[in-house]
Parts: sequence; structure tokens; C-alpha cells
Amino acid sequence: MPPPQTFHVKSFGCQMNVYDGERMAELMAADGLVAVDADQADLVVLNTCHIRERATEKVYSDIGRIRKVAGKAGRTPMIAVAGCVAQAEGEEIVARAKVDVVVGPQAYHQLPTLVAKAAKGAPAIDTDMPLLTKFGALPARRRSGPSAFLTVQEGCDKFCTYCVVPYTRGAEVSRPFTAIVEEAQALVDAGAREITLLGQNVNAWSDGARGLHDLICALDRVPGLARVRYTTSHPNDMTQGLIDAHRDVEGLMPFLHLPVQAGSDRVLRAMNRHHTRDSYLRLLDRVRAVRPDIALSGDFIVGFPGETEAEFAETLSLVEAVGYAQAFSFKYSPRAGTPAATLAEQVAPEVMDERLQRLQAALGRDQIAFNQASVGRTCTVLIERPGKRPGQMLGKSPWLQSVHLVTDAGIGDLVEVELVSAGPVSMGGVAAARLAA
Ligand code: SAH
Ligand code: SF4
Ligand code: F3S
Repeated sequence: MPPPQTFHVKSFGCQMNVYDGERMAELMAADGLVAVDADQADLVVLNTCHIRERATEKVYSDIGRIRKVAGKAGRTPMIAVAGCVAQAEGEEIVARAKVDVVVGPQAYHQLPTLVAKAAKGAPAIDTDMPLLTKFGALPARRRSGPSAFLTVQEGCDKFCTYCVVPYTRGAEVSRPFTAIVEEAQALVDAGAREITLLGQNVNAWSDGARGLHDLICALDRVPGLARVRYTTSHPNDMTQGLIDAHRDVEGLMPFLHLPVQAGSDRVLRAMNRHHTRDSYLRLLDRVRAVRPDIALSGDFIVGFPGETEAEFAETLSLVEAVGYAQAFSFKYSPRAGTPAATLAEQVAPEVMDERLQRLQAALGRDQIAFNQASVGRTCTVLIERPGKRPGQMLGKSPWLQSVHLVTDAGIGDLVEVELVSAGPVSMGGVAAARLAA
């Protein structure tokens, strides 16, 4: 197989995978390859997610589809599997799907070497987990949209009993303060106005005595950077310093994604979450005390093994007590190698379906209520892209709502906007200057 001249990276799963996908694309471009559409590429990198069964199976159906489309055009693209499935399944992917390269989330700085090796004919695999080595080996950031991701922390030590992440991403590790500030500066120079700090447990970030709130304060002082966000946080790593930052740091947006997973203490214990329903609710009270308008978000799993109807009802009542601005909810998916997968009392699929529907109805209702309560507020909107209608632009409010408005402002501009209408997943706004006219 000749060495590839063109490439395409396709990312699945969480925002950390999106970040990794961008960095892989920058790396391949620095190596002289040209980014093209998937069906044109000599090299297709599938940056995969292992979190649920369906996510994993998608990789194999994608590989089949890519080969079929390319085959019709008489091409045989090189296929590289990166991300969490690569880490979890390693050589098995080569055996099952005959791919050319398998590279784990901590080893993708080796991608050019692996691709060169695979071009000589033998499959190339690297699932080593050297801590943070990749960051030093990646090219500097040169391109960015108005809203950029920046991974500051990787891995997880929490070992929730349902979750593969501690196995696919390894132990918790924080990038050094100065490396992060440098990368943030480079992103701002490249056009970022907003940076979302990422980590599987981002609020566990530390460097010496510094915690995440110190990092956020430092980034708030970077000239040209207007907004800072962070995700995903674990309830047990939510320090008072970070809570206070929501009151004290102007550029820190009033949004907190704080997964709870379930509302029943018995289920939380079986999940190994190390927090209770009550400790979670009290934590949110403390956050709301310093930042009453904060938009809250969460993750939920329905149908964890042994979950009874009464225990599920506790999830619904927790949702009602919190009033989330948005949330993600999933059916429990047993993952090989995790403790919960071996529990005897797996919940029937139709019961999970029905619980998910009820939960999503409640979360949808609360999201609309949050959006409706935002009507009449004036806020900044960061313009991110053109909307569907002529003259219309789309951006984000401080509370992470999508806002569409008619404006001649361009991508990357911050506009004063009055929110005038609410939909289930977006808001309508009017630029304040236009209001005044
Ligand atoms: N570190 C983050 C994100 C983990 S993955 C956190 O702790 O919140 C994102 C979400 O996927 C989790 O919050 C959980 O709700 C869901 N998830 C993880 N494993 C799952 C599984 N086996 N089945 C269903 N959902 C799962
Ligand atoms: Fe998975 Fe739990 Fe770690 Fe989140 S905290 S990544 S759910 S093990
Ligand atoms: Fe998926 Fe890995 Fe992220 S399993 S959710 S891509 S950390």
C-alpha cells in the first residue's frame, strides 16, 4: 500500500475525543497529509468510543461502510482505529476487521510512525499509556473556531461499577499549569474567544497547590479570552474554591455539568459513586447560593442492575427537585470487565425503555421551563455560525443555550442580546442595539 496523501478523522463519543480528533488532524497535516472528506481519503481515522455497547458496535459497521463505498470507486483506504475501542480491544480489532492501525488515546502522537509502518504491509498497534507524553509531541495549536476545547486532565480513578473509562483512559493525571496556559494563549491567537477545559474528571485537576479554580482565574486574565467553561465534573471533586469561582470570576460561565446518575442511595452505592442523593442536592444548594442563575446539567443511567420501580421513582423526584437546564440520559449498557456487568439482576430491556422515556419526558419539560424562564433576560451571545435563514446567526448564551438572531455580527463576535422566545432546545434573541433603535 503506498503511503497515504490524504486523510479524514471521524470522532465519536465525548468532547475529549473531539479534542483528540482535532489534535490528530493537526498532527497528520503537519506530516504533510491533506484533510479531505471521508469517501475521498487515503487514510480514515476512526476515533472511537467504548462507553456503551452500541457505540462500540458502530465502529465495526462504519469500517464495513467505508470499505464498501471505497470499493465501488476502486479504492482501498488505510483504516486506523483510535480512541477508547482501540485501547479496550487492541489486537482484536485487527483480527476482527483487518484494520491497518490501532492506536490508543494516550499514544496517538505516534500516528505518523504507525501509518508509515502499516504502509509497508504489517498492521501497526500502539496501546501504550505513557502519562502525558503525547502533549509534548504534538504540534502547537494554529487553528481554532470561536469556541475551543482544551484537555487539561485525563483519566479516572473513580471506578464507577458500570464504567469503562478508568480502563480505556487510565489513571487520573493533570497537565502542568504552564503548558495549559500556553495552549490557551495559542488558541486565543488562533481566534478562540471561549475555551472549555476538558477532563474525564476535570475538577480533579491540580498542579502542586493549584486547583481548577486557580487555573480558571489565570485563564480569565488571558487577553482576548472572554469565556471559560469546564466539563465533566465529579460531585466529590467540587471544591469550595471552584464553587466560589462561579461568583468571583467574570469570564466563568454560569453552567455546571455535574452527573448524578441516579436518585436512590442504594443504587448510588451499587454504582460506587461515593456520594449520596442528599450530599449531591446540598452541593447544588451551595452552588446556587453563590450563583443563583446557574444552569445545571447532569448525566443519568436508567436500569442499573437491580434498580426497582421505587428506586427509579427516586431519580424522577431528584430531577424534579433540581430543575435541570439540560441533561443526558442513557439506558444502562453492560460492559465486559466492569463489576456491574456480572450482577445477576439485569433489568429487562422493555423496562429500561419505559423508564428512559419517562425520565426524558421530565428532563425535556424542565429544559423548556428553564428556557422559558430565560425569556426577557439580556446577555452576551458568542456568535458561532450562520443560521438557516438569511441574515440569521447562531451562537451560545452564557447558560449554553443555542440562540438564533438576525445580526450583521460575524463569527467570533460577542453580541448583547435580549432573549425573546424559547423553544425546547434553542432560544430566539434580538441584538440589544437593534432593540434600542
Ligand atoms: N467522567 C464523566 C463522564 C463519563 S461517560 C462522568 O463521570 O460523568 C459519560 C456518561 O456516560 C456517564 O456520566 C454515564 O451517565 C454514562 N455511562 C457510563 N457508562 C455507562 C454504561 N455502562 N451504560 C450506560 N451509560 C453509561
Ligand atoms: Fe466513569 Fe465514574 Fe469515572 Fe465518570 S467518574 S468516568 S462515570 S468511572
Ligand atoms: Fe467514550 Fe472514551 Fe469518551 S469511552 S465517552 S470516548 S472517554
